[in-house]
Amino acid sequence: MKAIVLSGGKGTRLRPLTYTGAKQLVPIANRPILAYVIDNISKVGIKEVGIIISPETGSEVRETMGDGSKWGLKITYIMQDEPKGLAHAVRTAAPFLGDEPFVMYLGDNLIGCGIEKFVDTFKTSGADAVILLKPVDNPQAFGVAQADSSGRIVCLEEKPKNPKSNLALVGVYIFSPEIHKAIANIKPSARGELEITDAIQDLITRGAPVHSHVLDTWWLDTGKKDDLLAANTIVLDEWFKRDIRGTIENSQVTGRVTVEEGAVVRNSTLRGPIVVGSNAIVEDSFIGPFTSIGSGTKVSKSIVEHCVILSGAELSHVDRLEDSLIGRNAKVRKCHDKHEALRLMIGDDSVVEV
Ligand code: TTP
Repeated sequence: MKAIVLSGGKGTRLRPLTYTGAKQLVPIANRPILAYVIDNISKVGIKEVGIIISPETGSEVRETMGDGSKWGLKITYIMQDEPKGLAHAVRTAAPFLGDEPFVMYLGDNLIGCGIEKFVDTFKTSGADAVILLKPVDNPQAFGVAQADSSGRIVCLEEKPKNPKSNLALVGVYIFSPEIHKAIANIKPSARGELEITDAIQDLITRGAPVHSHVLDTWWLDTGKKDDLLAANTIVLDEWFKRDIRGTIENSQVTGRVTVEEGAVVRNSTLRGPIVVGSNAIVEDSFIGPFTSIGSGTKVSKSIVEHCVILSGAELSHVDRLEDSLIGRNAKVRKCHDKHEALRLMIGDDSVVEV
């Protein structure tokens, strides 16, 4: 069995961050989302992974993820010239996949468990596809499935106006090579994409068995700011331990706080769960729960809680920053030597609430 990880796409919902970088590399608790995806794939013993990349962000993805040896597997990079849909990405990866079954994992999806039992279901059921489902409040925004009582899928619809169930498709799928025939049968949808839901529906229509699992842990599609903050909160809460490798001077550190190598925390209060990245400096500040501070970041005389601060950013004299996502090398500071006013230089598509 092989795996493909979809790391192309446009990332419009996470602008402006995605003007300068791939959304799949945005860090959750200071690790790129893709790293959690590869963790899950390596745990089921898969040794060959193809990562679908785009011309815009491919080289950054390649540099960050490397050849896979960190995980004991081999990563091959597959260029998709344009984001023409999830099924188009599979078609682009067909030469890499050959006639092996494979896991398809969306590179911006995080789930709260491993994928072992889904792979087991695929192997024991003889299904041509196993899909993961999760009940959601707004099924209109997702691919939606209707399953019978045994978990066999009866029909699928992409973003239906009148959904037949509240079960959304999670971005992890397992396919037999039959999916390639199904993709050859489908046409682009109204939004111009080759939809994987249409390809799976084609399998169902031709009588091929398609099974499902309803996910009983959390699932986050990190495509938007609030989902990203939620993912950061859950990952820090569930997977992080206290681990102090940097220097702590004259500070109170409570709870599960990770301070990476070379970081310095001075005259500050840290209340976990928090991660402070390598070579970051935190001084005269309060850092509250569910905050990730990237490497090389500088925080001084500030109060920060429930935030994701990317590497190289600087916060200074910020009285209270909450629920915020601050991009790489961005600077947020209160200025004392001029009259009181907001002075902003903000990238396109940014959101500022004052
Ligand atoms: P989406 O989040 O559905 O699409 P997107 O990345 O274009 O984002 P947005 O809606 O904000 O514009 O894609 C899910 C994942 O699949 C994501 O990791 C990008 C990837 N993808 C591809 O690799 N190729 C594609 O053709 C598409 C549509 C998505």
